[in-house]
Amino acid sequence: MSFKKNILCIGAGYVGGPTMAVIAKKCPDCRIVVVDISAERISQWNSDNIPIFEPGLDKIIKETRGGNLFFSTEIEKGIKEADIIFVSVNTPTKTFGEGAGMASDLQYWEKTAHTIVENAESDKIIVEKSTLPVRTAEAMERILKASNRNIKFEVLSNPEFLAEGTAIKDLLEPDRVLIGSHKTEEGLKAAATLVDIYAHWVPKEKIITANLWSAELSKLVANAFLAQRISSINSISALCEKTDADISEISYAVGSDSRIGSKFLKTSVGFGGSCFSKDILNLVYIAQSYNLKEVADYWEMVVKMNDYQKRRFVQKIIKEMFNTVANKKIALFGFAFKADTGDTRDSPAIYITKKLVEERAFVSITDPKALDNARKDLEGIERLAAENGEGSGNSGIADGHGGERVKLVPDPYEAARDAHAIALLTEWVEYKDLDFEKLYRSMKKPAFIFDGRNILDHKKLYEIGFNVYPIGMSHFTHFE
Ligand code: UDX
Repeated sequence: MSFKKNILCIGAGYVGGPTMAVIAKKCPDCRIVVVDISAERISQWNSDNIPIFEPGLDKIIKETRGGNLFFSTEIEKGIKEADIIFVSVNTPTKTFGEGAGMASDLQYWEKTAHTIVENAESDKIIVEKSTLPVRTAEAMERILKASNRNIKFEVLSNPEFLAEGTAIKDLLEPDRVLIGSHKTEEGLKAAATLVDIYAHWVPKEKIITANLWSAELSKLVANAFLAQRISSINSISALCEKTDADISEISYAVGSDSRIGSKFLKTSVGFGGSCFSKDILNLVYIAQSYNLKEVADYWEMVVKMNDYQKRRFVQKIIKEMFNTVANKKIALFGFAFKADTGDTRDSPAIYITKKLVEERAFVSITDPKALDNARKDLEGIERLAAENGEGSGNSGIADGHGGERVKLVPDPYEAARDAHAIALLTEWVEYKDLDFEKLYRSMKKPAFIFDGRNILDHKKLYEIGFNVYPIGMSHFTHFE
């Protein structure tokens, strides 16, 4: 069978995998190859056990893989064959040098641009899918045009707005698709080619075209605005705890204003995920580099407020548990940055675990999907405990906990056995339906619950015997 278009996607991660699967399903006239430098990742995509959990993804992969969707490590071959190349390699925050902790680390991305130039034999449309700092397309163009060969590259920006856990739904029914291009004849022609692909299933009025720089910046701004709403409501949650106000009533009342809307006003232990902090800090860095200090400070506060919310949560646990958690067992319910995903990147749980270990608590972590990632995130945490003065002599580690500060326990009942407290960090629905009487019976008394997502039935928990601490509303305790 011959295909109308050959599409290549470089990077088989959270964005590349699901996006290409949906394009493959909706565009049977396109042949799509997804490549990655990690052979292990590609073999997972080719197996029955695909590397990411995303509701509905499995089914689409089964339908399309081997038909018009292929996963491969042959990057050079893929480049030669492709008409359109999506680039969705990771752009983590720089950990070194200029802009460390804020700017994007573009080394993978630059390497990709060089690989494209070296292997291309015909004109290509290059689509930036990774979230990139504004004006990255310009840098990509410079690399691509430096080749002196008679090949034309047209760079488009097509930022991804999917959220994890709802990726397939977001891709099938997007609020909008954004395509940025140069406003030249070639640029507009390339944009039209990409519009045609999305038009296979997205209504035309939802496909927005813009200039390249607007498209790049829109992605950062969308995430900054969403995160800002969460930081705003979280800042008010702290105020509620000092007064008799109730954050859920405030969210409802404020969100009922149609100009404001009800989404992203749920208070929490803080936002996480691969995008929010990273994108805002990127925005801050860009503003700083243009000497826009006030703009940079304004957005940086969104991230600082999030750090404050995480810190506040741990401080509350310590304070309410009689100012010490040393050698107490705390069960963390949920480690993923939100429900319905196994992703733990930037999850508040990482910070909370580390802080509790610093305070010498024993932490047992449970999560339906994220324990493998938790293990990686917490590598070296035993060392952290050691640096904290433990590990030699009379450290108190061995009292029946097997010497391990942190345990990963798939079964929540097992995780909570003999614990002094449960801290709920991720809003998995299954946690609402746990048998809390059974949990209570197996725990040390007085038993505490810190509900970092406000999803539990606080009054009922109180009646069972727990001391209950939600976020941004009155707590229920059995103490005088
Ligand atoms: C986000 C954006 O939504 C998406 O458009 C972008 O492309 C990538 O970043 P994602 O990180 O997958 O997607 O998750 P999202 O559902 O946006 O949640 C982000 C964080 O905010 C989570 O930790 C979530 O628990 C938290 N959150 C969300 C709240 O604390 N309160 C809310 O009301 C909503």
